[in-house]
Amino acid sequence: MKVAFVPRYGPPEVVEFREQLRPAPAPGHVRIQVLAAAVTTADSRLRSGVLPRGFGVLRGIALGFGGPRKGVLGTDAAGVVDALGPGVTRFAIGDPVLAFPGSAMGCHAEYLVMPADGRLVRKPANLSFEEAASLPFGGVTALDYLRRGEVKGAERVLVNGASGSVGSAAVQLAKHLGAHVTAVCSAANADLARALGAEQVIDYASTDFAAGSARYDAIVDCVGNAPYARVRSVLTRGGRLLAVLSDLPATLGAPFIRGEHMHRVVAGPAAEKVEDLATLAELAEQRVFKPLVDQRFPFAQIVDAYRVVDSGRKKGSVVVTLNARAATR
Ligand SMILES: NC(=O)c1ccc[n+]([C@@H]2O[C@H](COP(=O)([O-])OP(=O)(O)OC[C@H]3O[C@@H](n4cnc5c(N)ncnc54)[C@H](OP(=O)(O)O)[C@@H]3O)[C@@H](O)[C@H]2O)c1
Repeated sequence: MKVAFVPRYGPPEVVEFREQLRPAPAPGHVRIQVLAAAVTTADSRLRSGVLPRGFGVLRGIALGFGGPRKGVLGTDAAGVVDALGPGVTRFAIGDPVLAFPGSAMGCHAEYLVMPADGRLVRKPANLSFEEAASLPFGGVTALDYLRRGEVKGAERVLVNGASGSVGSAAVQLAKHLGAHVTAVCSAANADLARALGAEQVIDYASTDFAAGSARYDAIVDCVGNAPYARVRSVLTRGGRLLAVLSDLPATLGAPFIRGEHMHRVVAGPAAEKVEDLATLAELAEQRVFKPLVDQRFPFAQIVDAYRVVDSGRKKGSVVVTLNARAATR
């Protein structure tokens, strides 16, 4: 089978195609023929080796020396079950599924083997394979952070970086919880943010939300430019900063921040739970949550997909399709 392989840290051009043996599913596992896979900011970080400030010293041990230990990246995929290992009863051959190996990676390949009881659910019937492949990364991260930040109905929530993969999911999910949502993004994406459910939109190029008079119960920072010191004055009493992206000192210091107004900072890696994947698939089926697809590229052009992701300006997710006609269904 064909895989997109990252032999060393570097720009998108380091990615090369290799032939590998098609894996056989072990007992309790299923093999999926991948029809669409997202290229996420996590893939981009692993490929480039460029990590938030301070995390670089841990790179070799955590991710691999010289290049990512897992050469085949890809956190999210959608496709059809094409082989079953002994003992699998949850899925049948031909089932359309949505897989989120997450940090285990492996989706940038024609076939993927997953535990049948892992982060694997049936594809919502109303989503194409491309949309389904765009659901897990941003959705699971946003859901985990909103839960850890105890966001409740009627609260005022600001999402910084509202048009990206995590941000677009956070806007929709906060809105679903009943929150009043303010989105921060470029002017070009203002209409998109409103369509996702934001009541107010702030263009970061012309307005500094942290210098305004509005107060927020929760601030979801998907950009990494809203540390506690910058936003403390616009948090309400008991307000939470949900720092989806933060550097090492801020991540380590988060549990110890107790501002004078009972503030709290939530940071660190999002939990990757199959229950959350199932919840999001249900919300998608109920048309409450719609994963946003920006650009689509054939698998052979994954380097171009990486270039868009590296720009830091994508709208939702970028996907590669391994069978374009099937993936749009
Ligand atoms: N903690 C975790 O477990 C976890 C999990 C997933 C992701 N992350 C991290 O979270 C970050 C966001 O991921 P993502 O996939 O959502 O990224 P993304 O899709 O690239 O989105 C970034 C968004 O930020 C907006 N933006 C750029 N500059 C901005 C600024 N100055 N102010 C406000 N918005 C700005 C861009 O929108 P415009 O084009 O409108 O400017 C873009 O849509 C990444 O760094 C990723 O590594 C962390």
